[in-house]
Amino acid sequence: MELIHLLDKKASQMLESEQLSKEFNHAPNLAGNVKKEVRYPSSWLSTKEFKPMVEFIGEMVKAYISIPPANETISPAFVGKLVIQSMWTVSQWAGDFNPFHVHEGQLSGVIYLRIPPGLKNEYEKEDHYPTVGDIVFFHGQAATFSGHKMQYTPEVGDIFLFPNWLSHGVYPFRTKEQERRSVSFNLELIKKPGVTAGNAETLRNKEFYKKK
Ligand SMILES: [Fe+2]
Repeated sequence: MELIHLLDKKASQMLESEQLSKEFNHAPNLAGNVKKEVRYPSSWLSTKEFKPMVEFIGEMVKAYISIPPANETISPAFVGKLVIQSMWTVSQWAGDFNPFHVHEGQLSGVIYLRIPPGLKNEYEKEDHYPTVGDIVFFHGQAATFSGHKMQYTPEVGDIFLFPNWLSHGVYPFRTKEQERRSVSFNLELIKKPGVTAGNAETLRNKEFYKKK
């Protein structure tokens, strides 16, 4: 939760400052129809204060790429460096929404800082196909016995990692005067010199034969 508090405190610092919101306004680069989207200055990300957060993201990524299907394309052993390309806060209010979009980088993530208490009530009132404030990921085509979407009702502290190409969007909510606040980020995994797609195949085969 310390990570959530730090990100939220720093997000407030940016969102409440007219100068910082303007200087680091990230909205022109994003799809969101939301009140404010402000980028954490890259100079902040390299500070001592942010170090535990950067390390935590590194650990998450390591876990993510250690299991199938991600480890069939890249394994932690092949990653030389992890770069946070960008990180920004999304301040969403009643009526705001995020149209379906994809991200830059290779691996992206979202962390939830604030969820309006009123959303639970709204959700219960939507008696069929509730969507209030949910994030939804879409991939492929609906087919018999095969899903094509995953929808989540996020809670404070939830963190999702997903490939940058995975389409997703965020539904609006109606509760007034309450903020849904999240942080998104894009990561670039730089391979060690000499690593090729063939290495991933080798890894997959090794694991396959180990199981036999
Ligand atoms: Fe997004």
